[in-house]
Amino acid sequence: MTGLRVASYAKINLGLEVLALRSDGYHELRTLFQTIDLHDDITLQPRRSGIVVRCDHPGVPTDETNLAARAASALAKYGHVTQGIEIRITKRIPVAGGLGGGSSNAAATLLGLDRLWGLGLGPAGLHPLARRLGADVPFFLMGGTALGLARGDEVYPLHRQIRGHVVLVDAGRPVSTAAVFRRVDESLTPREKSYTIFLFVSRHLEGESGFSLLSNDLESAALSEAPDLREAIERTRGILRGAGCSLAALSGSGSSFFGLFEDARRAGRARRALEAAGLRAFGCRTLSLEEYRWRWSRTLGRAGARVGRTR
Ligand code: C5P
Repeated sequence: MTGLRVASYAKINLGLEVLALRSDGYHELRTLFQTIDLHDDITLQPRRSGIVVRCDHPGVPTDETNLAARAASALAKYGHVTQGIEIRITKRIPVAGGLGGGSSNAAATLLGLDRLWGLGLGPAGLHPLARRLGADVPFFLMGGTALGLARGDEVYPLHRQIRGHVVLVDAGRPVSTAAVFRRVDESLTPREKSYTIFLFVSRHLEGESGFSLLSNDLESAALSEAPDLREAIERTRGILRGAGCSLAALSGSGSSFFGLFEDARRAGRARRALEAAGLRAFGCRTLSLEEYRWRWSRTLGRAGARVGRTR
């Protein structure tokens, strides 16, 4: 049986507002998601039975708690598929770094298995399964620049697709998203009247960039959860701003920090300055909705990234 190789892309949050604690324990959010071309590689190889996960990163669980394994199991049940699958994950996205790696792996597994098993559900049909797996999973069925509402799982593509160069700094340590949100609860005053993300969207209509409006409400909670990161984050922000970025922010609940640049040379200069300061920095690019769709259609098309037969 032929397998399938898929790329599983990371995201950054260009902005994130926490509005209120919901009755289901989650938080009501407004966020601007952006896919970037940093990606893990996933190979889906059919086997007679059972779901097996292999991963080259020791920080990723390979038992049934792995989000890609849970995605495969949920889809098999939904589609009445009895065949098994081996999921091999080659990690490049920092683990528990606020870049949506686990959620992206789950969405990529759903899209890949939908094709491999011939279920024909597509992103819209997979959405109900995706939102049950995690708040960020539905976004990765779509990609590009998108507005996330509710738990972040109600996703709307933006007319304005951001294109730019991204310099990422990997803080080299995981931060628990659940723990950061618990810290938010200690200080959260519901603020339904905050409209900065909506203003950002409309500023573009007036011909302004609007990036200065954006911020991440999780940053101070992330820094109280991981105070050891404060100094490196301040240094990173200073270097990115000095190099002329349009936006410098923590991604999601951290620990990754990023700078967005219009200009490739400035981005390159920032990356080198960060490296010279002893930080782990790498460069990548935004992926627009159109680019994301195109990459997925190439992968899932008839001449897609097929891999060898099972023995
Ligand atoms: O949905 P996911 O499992 O990825 O979220 C991880 C954790 O982040 C949740 O268990 C929850 O504690 C927190 N979270 C939240 N509100 C959101 C999204 C995530 O409280 N909108």
